[in-house]
Amino acid sequence: MATYRILIAFILVLSCHFLRADFNSILKGESLADYQQLVSANGFFKMQFFSPGKSRNRYLGIFSTRPSLDLYSDVNGGGDEKALWIANRDDPITDTSGSLMIAPDGRLIISHKEGNVTLFSATPTTATNLTAILLDNGNFVLRELNTNSSVNRTLWQSFDYPTDTLLPGMKLGINLRTGHKWSLTSWVNDQAPASGSFTFGLDPNGTNQLMIL
Ligand SMILES: *[C@@H]1O[C@H](CO)[C@@H](O)[C@H](O)[C@H]1NC(C)=O
Ligand SMILES: *[C@@H]1O[C@H](CO)[C@@H](O)[C@H](O)[C@H]1NC(C)=O
Ligand SMILES: *[C@@H]1O[C@H](CO)[C@@H](O)[C@H](O)[C@H]1NC(C)=O
Ligand SMILES: *[C@@H]1O[C@H](CO)[C@@H](O)[C@H](O)[C@H]1NC(C)=O
Ligand SMILES: *[C@@H]1O[C@H](CO)[C@@H](O)[C@H](O)[C@H]1NC(C)=O
Repeated sequence: MATYRILIAFILVLSCHFLRADFNSILKGESLADYQQLVSANGFFKMQFFSPGKSRNRYLGIFSTRPSLDLYSDVNGGGDEKALWIANRDDPITDTSGSLMIAPDGRLIISHKEGNVTLFSATPTTATNLTAILLDNGNFVLRELNTNSSVNRTLWQSFDYPTDTLLPGMKLGINLRTGHKWSLTSWVNDQAPASGSFTFGLDPNGTNQLMIL
């Protein structure tokens, strides 16, 4: 009898855990571990750690859950779809210790055994109520909330840092004031999503032409 009770308690704990893991957002102080995923409210996009092909490196990526968008189903091997966006393409994690979190000081980071990958660190100290949410268009955004839980402002968004895939709502170009560039950059190869040799974006010489460099 006691064994059953323990078993039932264990199953309850497990199912709560997995229910929570299906949420679309994390709050300050919460984290997304290597084995968990965020799923957008409409179920079209998910965010999780993955290893491309035979690589053992771990990357945090956003994927489409819809087979019709699976343009590259053979790329990653194992029938996995290709990541539409990668948080740490040039900072692979070598084990499964990675976890995405909003640190107590408001930085958005992937914390792992050997250090932290910082996605955003310029959080104003006045911004206390923070949430990072995977939206229905595949954009992952760090937001400050008001006390009534409406959105105060967006501090950072993945759409400002495209990987190699342009999704509806993303843009390409250059912000002439800040110098920020929105461009697409190829993977090195199927096993290595690091920034490769080809970039597609606005001509840096200001001719207003989109070009592949
Ligand atoms: C990584 O970030 C966490 C959370 O802010 C912090 O506790 C830890 O010291 C950091 N580790 C390194 C190596 O910077
Ligand atoms: C943070 O937002 C929640 C709703 O999401 C609200 O209940 C809470 O009062 C807020 N806290 C602060 C300090 O604004
Ligand atoms: C929530 O709070 C903000 C700022 O305090 C306010 O501008 C907004 O109108 C409020 N929204 C609702 C639905 O009460
Ligand atoms: C947004 O948050 C800042 C800092 O907490 C606050 O000063 C400002 O009034 C907020 N804006 C709205 C619309 O609530
Ligand atoms: C931009 O201009 C420089 C100097 O005129 C030239 O060397 C370079 O090739 C140009 N780049 C592109 C992409 O046209």
